[in-house]
Amino acid sequence: MTVLVIGGSGYLGAELVRRAAAAGHDTAATFATRPGTAPAAAWHHLDVRDPAQLTALLGEVAPAAVINASSGQADWAVTAEGAVRVAQAAVRQGCRLVHVSSDAVFSGARVRYDESCPPDPVTPYGAAKAAAETGVRLVAPDAVVARTSLIMGDGRSAHERLVHELTTGRRGGALFTDEVRCPVHVADLAGALLELALSGERGVWHLAGADALSRYEAGVLMARRDGFDPGLLPSGRRADSPLPGALDVRLDSGAARSRLRSPLRGAREFLAGGTGAEDVAGAPDGS
Ligand SMILES: NC(=O)c1ccc[n+]([C@@H]2O[C@H](COP(=O)([O-])OP(=O)(O)OC[C@H]3O[C@@H](n4cnc5c(N)ncnc54)[C@H](OP(=O)(O)O)[C@@H]3O)[C@@H](O)[C@H]2O)c1
Repeated sequence: MTVLVIGGSGYLGAELVRRAAAAGHDTAATFATRPGTAPAAAWHHLDVRDPAQLTALLGEVAPAAVINASSGQADWAVTAEGAVRVAQAAVRQGCRLVHVSSDAVFSGARVRYDESCPPDPVTPYGAAKAAAETGVRLVAPDAVVARTSLIMGDGRSAHERLVHELTTGRRGGALFTDEVRCPVHVADLAGALLELALSGERGVWHLAGADALSRYEAGVLMARRDGFDPGLLPSGRRADSPLPGALDVRLDSGAARSRLRSPLRGAREFLAGGTGAEDVAGAPDGS
């Protein structure tokens, strides 16, 4: 079966490409500015803003499933409109679609969010992700819309890089003690997304880790795991900063945890030991 990973050159996309290829799927992947490094995939340039490119690519690759792991941050044309264009192309091609969304669609006003909660974003990025979800669900009602939280765990995420740079003084800033999320291991998330792509499931899914931690708490665990001094991590409060954004957003992923085989570990577990690279190498699906 052929799997197409849109945004395969990104952080999550690279893990999806690696796992899909290792599980024996014909794997195609896209990049916007720089090709990915996984040799097992067929790489294609794609700008999701261009519907003609999307139609031509899906026609050429003829995937059974598309996973859209691209990100244009707050760029509306990429993150909102581009995601809907991907859904339109997937429907025309008759293939399954898994669209990756974010806990940024929520304001934090109710703290705990299950799949039935409507989006109430407070940032331009969250608004673009919420608009994308709405468009994807209307255009492709059989698609999976998978919301997730901070993606990390293998030592290579932007969150882990930030902690390394803060503790070594290569970067200024602080980690917020009042900004709480449910971080997910990139390998767990990729496993769950692939499982959903190969299933007949549809609708909104929450795929986040089991533990709610502040960014500062997560930073302390990462620093400790990676041999940096957690005492050097600067802390602050988002509530005292001028930055817009939600404080406490906890995705309830209980439904996914009970219905999927793929684990969704908590950050206290996966940040306690090694980087997780060795877990990935020995994953039960042989990937
Ligand atoms: N990282 C997190 O903590 C986090 C948290 C919650 C949700 N998410 C969601 O998870 C998904 C993956 O995030 P990520 O952190 O892995 O993203 P990422 O590392 O920033 O990668 C983004 C990907 O999108 C591609 N891209 C950018 N502009 C594009 C365009 N116009 N057309 C087509 N592709 C384009 C990039 O290609 P090039 O690299 O070639 O430019 C790259 O492959 C996104 O949907 C994001 O919203 C991420």
